[in-house]
Amino acid sequence: MNRPRRNRRTPAIRSMVRETTLSPADFILPLFFHEDAEDAAIASMPGVTRWSLASLVREAGEARALGIPAIVLFPKIDEALKTPLAEESHNDDGLVSRAIRALKAAHPTLCVITDVALDPYNSDGHDGIVQRDGRGELEILNDETVEVLCQQALCHARAGADIVAPSDMMDGRVAAIRDGLDSEGFTNVSILSYTAKYASAFYGPFRGALDSTPKAGDKKTYQMDPGNAREALRETLLDEAEGADMLMVKPAGLYLDIIAKVRETSTLPVAAYQVSGEYLMLKSAAAGGWLDEKAIVLESLLAIKRAGADMILTYFAKQACGWLKS
Ligand code: PBG
Repeated sequence: MNRPRRNRRTPAIRSMVRETTLSPADFILPLFFHEDAEDAAIASMPGVTRWSLASLVREAGEARALGIPAIVLFPKIDEALKTPLAEESHNDDGLVSRAIRALKAAHPTLCVITDVALDPYNSDGHDGIVQRDGRGELEILNDETVEVLCQQALCHARAGADIVAPSDMMDGRVAAIRDGLDSEGFTNVSILSYTAKYASAFYGPFRGALDSTPKAGDKKTYQMDPGNAREALRETLLDEAEGADMLMVKPAGLYLDIIAKVRETSTLPVAAYQVSGEYLMLKSAAAGGWLDEKAIVLESLLAIKRAGADMILTYFAKQACGWLKS
C-alpha cells in the first residue's frame, strides 16, 4: 500500500524531504527612521521603531550580523519639507542620502535598498505629483512624476545605494530610471521593481508610521486592483522588457497566487513584501494570546517562499532569524 505518512514519520525524515526551508539570506528588513535624535515607538505597528540616524546604523549592523543581507530605507520626512513637487526627494544632503552614506561606511557588506516614490516628500501624500482639474478631481501625473523619480533614484545612487526600488506604480518608470542611472555611469545599481503592487487596505499601519496617508483621494489610479491577476503578468512582462533586475509582489500573504504566477512567468528573482497590515494581524493575534507568534510567523514566511518568492521583505526579519537558530 502507498503510505505517504512514511515520509513524515520522524523529524530526521521530515527534514530530508522538506521542499522549502527558510534562512536569514531570504530576508530583507524594512527600516523606518527620522531626523530626531530620539527613537520613537510606532503606534500603528507595535514592536516596530522609527529610529534616529545613529540607531538606524546600529540596527542595520545587527541585522547584517544575523545573516540578513539587505535592508530597505523608509524615511519620515519633516512636514515642513513636504512640497507639491517633492523636491526633498532628491536632496543630496537629505535624510536618505545621509543615511545611505552612514550605512555604507559602517557596514560595507550590507546591501542598501531604497524606496523610490514621492509619498514621504509630497505634501499631497501621493506617490506621484498631483494635479487638480476644474471640478477638484485629482489626477496623479505620470510622466512628470517619472522625471522626479529618476532624479530621486540618481540621488540614491550618488549616495551609494546598491538597489533602488520604485514602489510608485507609474508607467514606464523602470526604463526611465535604468536610462538615467546608465547615463550617469551607475550601471551597477540594480532596480528592484514593485511590479505588482496592489491598492491594498493592508498598508494602513505603514502610512501611520510615516504620516504619509494621502490628504485626498486614494491610490487606485496607479496601484493595482486586488481582483486582477492577469494584469500582474502584463506588468511582469513590461518590467522585464524595461530592464528590471528583480520583481516584487506586494502584499505577500494574501497574494500567493500572484507570487506563483509571476514566478512562472519570469526568470528574474522575485521578492514579496509582507506588509504592515500583515505584520499587525500576526502581532495582534499573538499579543492577544490567541495564536503562537513564532509558529504563525515562520509558517507565513514559509508559505510566501513556497509560493515562489526568492526574497521576503518582512518586519519580522530579525525575530525570524532568532527563531530559525533556536
Ligand atoms: C510607498 C510605500 C508604501 C508601502 C511601501 N512603500 C505605502 C503605500 O503604497 O501607500 C507599504 C508597506 C507596508 O505597508 O508595509 N510608496
